[in-house]
Amino acid sequence: MFPDAEMFAVQFDRFGPPEVLMVGGFPEPHAGPGEVRVRVRAAGVAPVDLALRSGTSPSSGRLPLPHIPGVDAAGVIDEVGADVTGFATGDEVFGAVDVSRLGGAAAEFAVLAFWAAKPPSMSWEEAGAAGTSVETATRALDRLGVRVGTTLLVDGASGGVGSVAVQLAAARGARVIGTGRPENHAFIARLGAVPVSYGPGLAERVRALVAGGIDLALDIAGAGSLRELIAITGTPASVLTIADFTGPELGVGISLGELGGEPDGRHGLALAAALSEEGRFRVPVRAVFPMARAAEAHAAAARGPRQGKVVLAAPPADGGRD
Ligand SMILES: NC(=O)c1ccc[n+]([C@@H]2O[C@H](COP(=O)([O-])OP(=O)(O)OC[C@H]3O[C@@H](n4cnc5c(N)ncnc54)[C@H](OP(=O)(O)O)[C@@H]3O)[C@@H](O)[C@H]2O)c1
Repeated sequence: MFPDAEMFAVQFDRFGPPEVLMVGGFPEPHAGPGEVRVRVRAAGVAPVDLALRSGTSPSSGRLPLPHIPGVDAAGVIDEVGADVTGFATGDEVFGAVDVSRLGGAAAEFAVLAFWAAKPPSMSWEEAGAAGTSVETATRALDRLGVRVGTTLLVDGASGGVGSVAVQLAAARGARVIGTGRPENHAFIARLGAVPVSYGPGLAERVRALVAGGIDLALDIAGAGSLRELIAITGTPASVLTIADFTGPELGVGISLGELGGEPDGRHGLALAAALSEEGRFRVPVRAVFPMARAAEAHAAAARGPRQGKVVLAAPPADGGRD
């Protein structure tokens, strides 16, 4: 008898630069209770993937090697775990792995812990990149209390989470100001935000730009701007970070690792899917690489200027027909 069936997977067996990534055989995973397994069509590349691969993440030390990178994926369900209702094999879905596993998406098959139906309006590449960005942005906007009439500053508006957060905040009826490099200002404006340059002096630039002041600020870049964001909003209680561990020292809330595993874990994805169908939301994808070129994808994701996500595309299961 064969051992557990093998699939192809992007993987690394030592920490290091993007070149440690290779494609090879790996035992197939299976859906546990409350999970689905998908035949992957596309998998996003997230900053956490780069940090885990390079060995700079605090979690790198607890990774069993070899490790499959990737937390976000979209594909076609081919295995449904116990206790899953409303989904069946053949359904097209997008979502994310159990983030405590720190990977597993960049492979032929991936097990998703939270997901939603992929709407026809979303390409596979968009859907594969959406999971944790949408979920993180949704939770951050909820935590901040962004609603109709809020004026929100998003620091780091052009990347994976920022490009999604801007659109979701605008869809709530908020007025959004988004920071980015000058060459990204037109992109940020298309997302629905008033662009402003990031970096030192942000408070003065925002004051000059926005009459009436800023109600709330979301730090996505983790680039050391928290003091300036507090000055802009007037209080640390109106600032939230998803990327700066010094937040709590300054009285700023930090929203880290709060993905999935909660009863409402699907609401962000389902809402994004509905907005996509209405033509009010897209996941910006700046580059797509086949999984065999994962090293190039990781190198690209590490470089600015960023406009949304870098995505890995799986080879079609039928050898080319779509
Ligand atoms: N809380 C969570 O669970 C969670 C989930 C996902 C991500 N994150 C974290 O959130 C952070 C952002 O994730 P992401 O996927 O959006 O990353 P990303 O795609 O790499 O985007 C980073 C963004 O920050 C901008 N940026 C760079 N330097 C900046 C500066 N000095 N000031 C303001 N903005 C600056 C980049 O613009 P340019 O490229 O133009 O420089 C880009 O828009 C990462 O640290 C990630 O680990 C947390």
